[in-house]
Amino acid sequence: MTGQNEKAEERIRERTAAWRRDFHAHPELSGEERETARRIRLALNEMGIPYRCPGDYYAVIGEIRGGRPGPVVALRADMDALPLEERTGLPFASETPGVMHACGHDVHMAALLGAALRLQARRETLPGTVRFLFQPREELSPEGGAPLLIRDGYLDGVRAIFGFHQWPDLPLGTVGVHAGAMMAASDRFKITIHGHDAHAAHPDQGIDAIVGATNVLQEIYQIVSRRLNPHAVAAVSVGTIRGGTRYNVVAPEVVLEGTCRTLDQESREKVPACIRRILEGQRVSYNLQSSLEYHRGYPIVRNWTGPEQLVEETVRQVLGPGALRTDIVPELTGEDFAFYLEKVPGAFFWLGSHRAGEPFHGLHSAGMCPDEETVHYGSRLLADLAVRALEELPQDAGPAPEGLQAPSGTV
Ligand code: NI
Repeated sequence: MTGQNEKAEERIRERTAAWRRDFHAHPELSGEERETARRIRLALNEMGIPYRCPGDYYAVIGEIRGGRPGPVVALRADMDALPLEERTGLPFASETPGVMHACGHDVHMAALLGAALRLQARRETLPGTVRFLFQPREELSPEGGAPLLIRDGYLDGVRAIFGFHQWPDLPLGTVGVHAGAMMAASDRFKITIHGHDAHAAHPDQGIDAIVGATNVLQEIYQIVSRRLNPHAVAAVSVGTIRGGTRYNVVAPEVVLEGTCRTLDQESREKVPACIRRILEGQRVSYNLQSSLEYHRGYPIVRNWTGPEQLVEETVRQVLGPGALRTDIVPELTGEDFAFYLEKVPGAFFWLGSHRAGEPFHGLHSAGMCPDEETVHYGSRLLADLAVRALEELPQDAGPAPEGLQAPSGTV
């Protein structure tokens, strides 16, 4: 690196870190990202990058049109924080009580702005357009924010999309990525079991919804082990049970709510069908009526082959061959980036953010504190990835991931 380049690199590093600290100190909850969007617009203004903002939610869509013709590549960062009281002790800790960037979306935004800064500096030679999607409401499962941007056409004309999540489970300076499923489909269900009340001394005169609920619960927990393909990875968990009116009354109603996480489309389709059969069994056996609300949430985050290879090449080049981890195990957590990958080719990767020797704090914990270098690595990777995608990604981005199906909606 020449002395001049080193200076430029140092300036980018400082600016990117400053953005991150600023975002971190001013977190906002899903759907309320007004100030965050303003800060992003300010940064893009300073860089001279044009942007658009939708009217009814807080996204910012920046765009750099290169000096040479070529395709459109999109890079995405999510913007929202979580309702947690921060306990990191950082000098730039949250100034908003009870709200914290505990998922590291501050890192994502700063890295994306850093990438924009790098790409703007080489705008004249860019063979195409880079679109920057600053997307709100990622934590607002099961709806998410991505479907809004898709609805409003911000993905139109995009040949490939890329994004990352800072990942405390991986060491700083490494990247976890592979083709195919990275993160789970995340669906949500609510079962209402309708019994009939009676004196507890005369259970024969009522229909006990609590008995129904315990039967249903036992059978639901057998779906993964007995009904799904043993090779499938899935979790079906009931998180709440509410029911009954009094200790000596046969319970007339119980409501169970839970989530279903799957990494393949076949299992995803099968689970609601299994739950329906279980409920039907209760109706036949015990005359218990019930209803099921099954809400499809985030789809499976499934990386496309061609774009995923570009990520691997970029990581090898920017961080070195040892930084690449393709042996990662997919997670059963969800990401609304999955909606984009259902529409256009692309890839999502995990960027290691835990420095060896530092205490470990996982995602969504009040002590979560990705190392600041993560921002720097993220901005370099995203910028290089965009250039590589513009230059190398053929019209046909490789095979679509298997089993891709139409998403969302309540069934
Ligand atoms: Ni997150």
